[in-house]
Amino acid sequence: MKISVKAAAKLNIFLDIIRRLDNGYHSLFMIMQSVGLYDVVKVTLSDSGKVTVLCSDPSLPCDGRNIAFRAACKFLSLAGLSGVGVNIDIEKNIPCAAGLAGGSADAAAVLYALNKLHGEPFCETRLLEIGAELGSDVPFCLTGGTRLAQNMGEVLSPLPPVPDVFFVLAKPCSSVSTMDAFAAFGEHGQISRLDRAGALYCAAKGDFEGLLKLSGNVFEQFVEVPDRVSIKSVMRRNGSTFCQMSGSGPTVFGIFDNPEGAEACAAELREFVGSVFVCRPVGRGVEEI
Ligand code: C5P
Repeated sequence: MKISVKAAAKLNIFLDIIRRLDNGYHSLFMIMQSVGLYDVVKVTLSDSGKVTVLCSDPSLPCDGRNIAFRAACKFLSLAGLSGVGVNIDIEKNIPCAAGLAGGSADAAAVLYALNKLHGEPFCETRLLEIGAELGSDVPFCLTGGTRLAQNMGEVLSPLPPVPDVFFVLAKPCSSVSTMDAFAAFGEHGQISRLDRAGALYCAAKGDFEGLLKLSGNVFEQFVEVPDRVSIKSVMRRNGSTFCQMSGSGPTVFGIFDNPEGAEACAAELREFVGSVFVCRPVGRGVEEI
């Protein structure tokens, strides 16, 4: 039995860090958006009793360091399916360590696929809890769309969908470790806070322009990303109404209201940025194909 799932990348339209929690993690306030840049994850059951991962990106580990592998092991153990084997085949399109939740999207796809293949032993709420134990962005990746994510990212509330804009995503060659980015937050004395209540008020009433006026990502105050300034200036010059880093970086995204501006911007960025994508908002994190 086999299922193919497309797993969407996410952007942080708004990201504020509230405080460090006693468990070392951080309490966050994020407005998250799924976008149509997908990994394709094929999950096949076997009777080998083993979990295997194959990935189109040879630089990624295929063992317990891969979150998709850990997702399968965790699912099988919690569902009491010790004799079951799982082969996971990942076509990687979402760049790694990029602030786009690429690994979390793959883990979400594995949980979703295994739950479907076994007749849904876990309800949605339980699947989200299992996802949260794997990684902070996994619950959002399981649900997707436009959501407010709070606490460590696992407290999710739906928001009205954003308009059907065009996003240009530019991922410079560098990668950022989320753990290092949070450590930098601890070392950074003072950060300017964002207007969370105002942003949420706009997002909840579907006022996207109002939301963008108040938006920001506090990681930009202490995570250094090469080319961030020049990427933003190309985006603005090509008509982007808003540009910002996603997550702990280094991907920078720009919002465009027409495809011509987005494509012209992408073409210019491709001259000096490693990976550039044009995509649109989508309403789901994982979807069977
Ligand atoms: O949960 P995830 O594996 O994505 O997190 C990677 C690292 O980022 C964690 O080990 C932790 O150091 C940090 N983190 C945090 N607070 C969060 C999410 C992640 O401090 N809410």
